[in-house]
Amino acid sequence: MSKSRTSVFFFLFLFSLSSVQSTPPSSDTIALQAVKAAIKPSSIPSYSCLGTWNFTTDPCSVPRVTHFTCGLSCSSGNRVTELTLDPAGYTGTLSPLISKLTQLVTLDLQNNNFYGPIPSSLSSLPNLKNLVLRLNSFSGSVPPSLTSLKSLLSLDISHNLISGLPNSMNELTSLRRLDLSYNKLTGSLPKLPPNLLELAAKANSLSGSLLKSSFYGLNQLEVVELSENSLFGTIETWFFQLPSLQQIDMANNSFTLVKIPKVVDLNSDLVAVDLGFNKIEGYLPVNFAIFPRLSSLSLRYNKFRGPIPLQYSKKATLKRLYLDGNFLNGSPPVGFFGRETSVTGSLGDNCLQKCPISSQLCLKSQKSTSICQQAYGGKPKS
Ligand SMILES: *[C@@H]1O[C@H](CO)[C@@H](O)[C@H](O)[C@H]1NC(C)=O
Ligand SMILES: *[C@@H]1O[C@H](CO)[C@@H](O)[C@H](O)[C@H]1NC(C)=O
Repeated sequence: MSKSRTSVFFFLFLFSLSSVQSTPPSSDTIALQAVKAAIKPSSIPSYSCLGTWNFTTDPCSVPRVTHFTCGLSCSSGNRVTELTLDPAGYTGTLSPLISKLTQLVTLDLQNNNFYGPIPSSLSSLPNLKNLVLRLNSFSGSVPPSLTSLKSLLSLDISHNLISGLPNSMNELTSLRRLDLSYNKLTGSLPKLPPNLLELAAKANSLSGSLLKSSFYGLNQLEVVELSENSLFGTIETWFFQLPSLQQIDMANNSFTLVKIPKVVDLNSDLVAVDLGFNKIEGYLPVNFAIFPRLSSLSLRYNKFRGPIPLQYSKKATLKRLYLDGNFLNGSPPVGFFGRETSVTGSLGDNCLQKCPISSQLCLKSQKSTSICQQAYGGKPKS
């Protein structure tokens, strides 16, 4: 054997040696090891995704027969792009080293028992589009650093114990869906992300009035779900003029007044409004009838008084109407009771006269005469 052939073999030998020897773990491996290590081993069932995470192989190597059988996806370049854990009841904290998964697009830990803070290091995941932490026990405030996530499309932290939001939420310029429902938020909403389509913050302890500054420029906002909070004051006309609104649910708050604009865009897509279980006073706003596609209106259990506007009964798009639990008086428009009408809902528990019990709208009985006399200062108007 010549000297040069020997050295070629020597190099081939070295090469093959290096490929069987373990290479230093990638930053993704370090991150995944840390994520697993922060979870109590007793909460990791052997059948679960994390139960199969065995770091003697690379997390991205295929086929995945026994190791890393689920919970993550990788790019063709063997970088982790998705971490979606199964709801196995994992109990622990989320390791800040998660930030080493720099190609991560989706992080979904829903329906487990993660607790402690949302790590501020998540801000170093520039590709993150979907962050789903719902149905865990994360606590503390959403770290302000997270507002630097310029790719983030969807943030769901509902059903946790989160008590605060950053003031700079509006810097999440790509965000389309924000679900904050069932947490411990208090005070007013901060300035919201400008490109939001859906906002949900149901069942928190939000208070104060709806601030125009929170909603300023939200021209694409379609869905607003703020029921079961302690919001109060007036719902002003600017709110109903947000140009893309489709559904509003602000039931179970403490609003006292609602102001409907006199003119609305003929392209308004507002289809459903629920302001039930508030403390809204005054006459029923006639102008709800001018929203061209309004199909469902609930103003039940407020303090509305006076007659039901004729315009409500003439509105062909209206299919569901709940006005029960107010102090409405007079006779309801006969238009509600024709054979051709298909409105469902309730006009019961008011001070209405001649609500025909043959109509399901009138099935629930009216308030007693004495309650109605009291509400109208002793002399029921008719
Ligand atoms: C990981 O896999 C190796 C080899 O496949 C196996 O020997 C080892 O017992 C596994 N470790 C755990 C914790 O399951
Ligand atoms: C609002 O409160 C009422 C009375 O407490 C309750 O029956 C209803 O389910 C609540 N509705 C919503 C949407 O929270």
